[in-house]
Amino acid sequence: MKIFHVDSSAKRERSNSRALSRGFIENLRAEGVNVEIDYLDVTVDTPAHVTEAFAIATYHAEHERTDAMRATLAPSDALCKRLLEADAFVFAMPMYNWSMPSAFKAFVDNITRTGITYKNAEDGTIVGQLSRQKALFITTRGADLRPGTVFSSMDALTPALKAAFSFVGVNEPRFVDAQPLQFSDQEARTEALRRAKAELAGVAAEWAALEKMRVGSAEVETA
Ligand SMILES: Cc1cc2nc3c(=O)[nH]c(=O)nc-3n(C[C@H](O)[C@H](O)[C@H](O)COP(=O)(O)O)c2cc1C
Repeated sequence: MKIFHVDSSAKRERSNSRALSRGFIENLRAEGVNVEIDYLDVTVDTPAHVTEAFAIATYHAEHERTDAMRATLAPSDALCKRLLEADAFVFAMPMYNWSMPSAFKAFVDNITRTGITYKNAEDGTIVGQLSRQKALFITTRGADLRPGTVFSSMDALTPALKAAFSFVGVNEPRFVDAQPLQFSDQEARTEALRRAKAELAGVAAEWAALEKMRVGSAEVETA
């Protein structure tokens, strides 16, 4: 299973989202999945912000683009290719100011591409091209935003991720939200990490079962 694994926390060794995404990959391996990783740290290789040149080039049809337009779009093309070639996505990020880290938003702006990750069908509908891939979002939050909490209405992260990735065809993404990890007592933080790790182990077991079925049916087809 080829996984496009993206980390987005400004923190490194101390980052919980990085530790949880690493742990999830280890869970998959422990489940016997043959994992191949394509790794991107968007805080190191940060995709460019949208520029005027990008905004113009992206809405020109492929055959109308100048060499300069193609050069502008090349890094975004390359990121889209990495998504299309993956079987699954593991996107890990902390909540920053109720939404996603700006480096991950720059990533979203680069991979939402007309004619590549989504296509305009003749009947006017949008057809996302990433419907084959499984997706897991691991988010870490300082506060507790679960339903029924004071901050529950402040979650602008989950809806933004759902909207952006459903547009490019990602069906039924899984979310594991570790919360509260900062603005709470130690006991609540420990419990939040324990819950998140248990949920991640569950997702890994599900993905492993699906992968075994997929590999099994591919072997039957070639037999
Ligand atoms: C700049 C910044 C903004 C943050 N904004 C929020 C926020 O809006 N809501 C929240 O619950 N936590 C917020 N936090 C806390 C982080 O989401 C939390 O500590 C998270 O666990 C960090 O994940 P990491 O360990 O992977 O970096 C913020 C942290 C930073 C550094």
